[in-house]
Amino acid sequence: MAFKTIEPMDFDIRIHHAFAKETALLTAGNKHSYNMMTIAWGTLGFMWNKPIVEVVVRPSRYTKEFIDTNDIFSLSFFGNSKKRELALLGSKSGRDFDKMHESGLTPFFMDNGGIGYDESRLIIVAKKLYTSQFRKQNFTSADIPETCYGDDDFHYRYIGEVIGIYDANLK
Ligand SMILES: Cc1cc2nc3c(=O)[nH]c(=O)nc-3n(C[C@H](O)[C@H](O)[C@H](O)COP(=O)(O)O)c2cc1C
Repeated sequence: MAFKTIEPMDFDIRIHHAFAKETALLTAGNKHSYNMMTIAWGTLGFMWNKPIVEVVVRPSRYTKEFIDTNDIFSLSFFGNSKKRELALLGSKSGRDFDKMHESGLTPFFMDNGGIGYDESRLIIVAKKLYTSQFRKQNFTSADIPETCYGDDDFHYRYIGEVIGIYDANLK
């Protein structure tokens, strides 16, 4: 699959739909060792004079270990395809099966450190800039800790500078 590069300032996407409905694969690591998981929560924006993407990862996720030990993470979107793979990669941990070799997807490794998949329609590669964990006492709406964090497993947020956007649909 050939991908065309898009400049962040020219990037136009239904971002809420992409995260919430399409969902994405969050991948980190290198060609020798990497892991990926399905995500639906995140943001895309502009911070510190840079285009940024933010993902949120609960402490229990195996993928967190790979994000913490690597500078780069990437998000891959698949349109309406690969629903079965996304469901599997979002319900089973890489601690329990070999996601690297049994994801059902074809990874490729970019010079900038990003990991994408031949089957994806869109890939966003980011370089980590900031991380912190959400804190219960900082929520100004009490229902969010109650409904989203019953186990107090507050997400770590990872804000990364967007260093590459690759679209498979552009000719
Ligand atoms: C649609 C969907 C969206 C998800 N979104 C997130 C998310 O944004 N953050 C998160 O920490 N887990 C999310 N998960 C759960 C992880 O994908 C799941 O726990 C996965 O098995 C973790 O794999 P790992 O342990 O190999 O990292 C989502 C799961 C699904 C099915």
